[in-house]
Amino acid sequence: MYINGKKMGEDLEKIEIMNPATNEVIGKVPNGGEKEAEQAIKAAYEAFLTWSETTAYERAAYLKRLNKLIIEHQEELAQTMTMEMGKPIEESKGEVVYGASFLEWYAEEAKRVYGETIPTHISNKRLQVWKKPVGVVAAITPWNFPLAMITRKIAPALAAGCTVIIKPSKESPLTAIKLMELVEKAGIPEGVVNLVTGSSAKIVGQMMENDKVRKITFTGSTEIGKLLIEQSAKQVKRLSLELGGHAPFIILDDANVEKAVDGVLASKFRNGGQTCVCANRIYVQAGIYEQFVNKFSEKVKGLRVGNSLHEEKVDIGPLINEDGVNKVARHVKDAVEKGALIVTGGNRIEGEGTFYEPTVLRDIDPSMIIMQEETFGPVAPIQKIETDEEAVELANSTEYGLAAYVFTESVSRGTKLVEKLDFGIVGWNDGVPSAAQAPFGGMKESGIGREGGHEGMDAFLETQYVSIGLS
Ligand code: SIN
Repeated sequence: MYINGKKMGEDLEKIEIMNPATNEVIGKVPNGGEKEAEQAIKAAYEAFLTWSETTAYERAAYLKRLNKLIIEHQEELAQTMTMEMGKPIEESKGEVVYGASFLEWYAEEAKRVYGETIPTHISNKRLQVWKKPVGVVAAITPWNFPLAMITRKIAPALAAGCTVIIKPSKESPLTAIKLMELVEKAGIPEGVVNLVTGSSAKIVGQMMENDKVRKITFTGSTEIGKLLIEQSAKQVKRLSLELGGHAPFIILDDANVEKAVDGVLASKFRNGGQTCVCANRIYVQAGIYEQFVNKFSEKVKGLRVGNSLHEEKVDIGPLINEDGVNKVARHVKDAVEKGALIVTGGNRIEGEGTFYEPTVLRDIDPSMIIMQEETFGPVAPIQKIETDEEAVELANSTEYGLAAYVFTESVSRGTKLVEKLDFGIVGWNDGVPSAAQAPFGGMKESGIGREGGHEGMDAFLETQYVSIGLS
């Protein structure tokens, strides 16, 4: 743990971190709780007094240094990430670049936090809008993007003048620790970024109770997001929530089928299907259904599953743990029992680690659990649809509203369809829409607020209206 610039927690009981590809213990982290969370909050609170008074140019310089250090340590960060959560090494390297991009972009954005001057209605008054950092921020991050989900939160927070306590996921805290070493190297002042590992209930409990924490930013399940909404009510803490998704992927009959196949591959099998924005429900119009299923399945059959630290050219790593495999197996079993056909895959890969075959299911219908719940695994269920209206109705028939995808070459059909989709992110002929400069977040039960882009910066700023009476 890092609290006020010091490594802490040597004296605490430890939690073992497992490599899901081998089930080996690869590291241990302190099992921190309320006391450590409170110390970190105090450090962040004290550091806020000076950090919030630095200029945007000074903060930008720190962020740029950290961006450069992350890129310089790409290999080491990627190895750690792959070891602790299984993502193929090439994807981990990609995540390092993606994660660093938030620091670069918000280093620039720090200098563009503008207030406003409002025309006055009384001649001896001046009306202004100032922007202020919200204060101490608690960033609660998930295991599936152990670096990028931290930098997507802390880059705008630091740029805005806030200080931070990071609570990384218990499955993937080692990447976060490596990041803290770089925070230190970048010379970011003590207490500005703190890291507490350990019990979620105790650490997050303290973050929610402690009135010095003014903002919670969380990526994780809708279930936990709802609890945080309830708990934040007591002190009206600011909240940004990036929650679950159940992305529909619509392919209309005028789509470029090759592009659509590659789009689904990129979206569905990114991180082995363990991404909130992954394609979960694939709807293909009748005219190209057979063609799509055949071409797509051929490519899926060519995907290599394995431990990318020991094997070459791995496309899919292990799932995060046994619960992850069991959920995937339950979804496939239910679909098959209700009439789905397995085109390829459909089994757990026996032996060490939590591997599951990349799977394509056809003849899917909406009654199957896989079309109702987020799977978080490498399974692509494909349902045949007839009309654009049916596509919209099926796509929107969920409490989630994070990402959706549409493949059509027609600007008119695409525009009309996208306008009707209740999703915060839409990839139109694009399977991977995420970017540091674009707003990422969901409608409905997929969250509150946006990360990335200028919206991601607003999330860490308060608006202060100042009415000045002149003499
Ligand atoms: C996520 O799974 O929440 C992150 C995916 C992304 O940033 O593209």
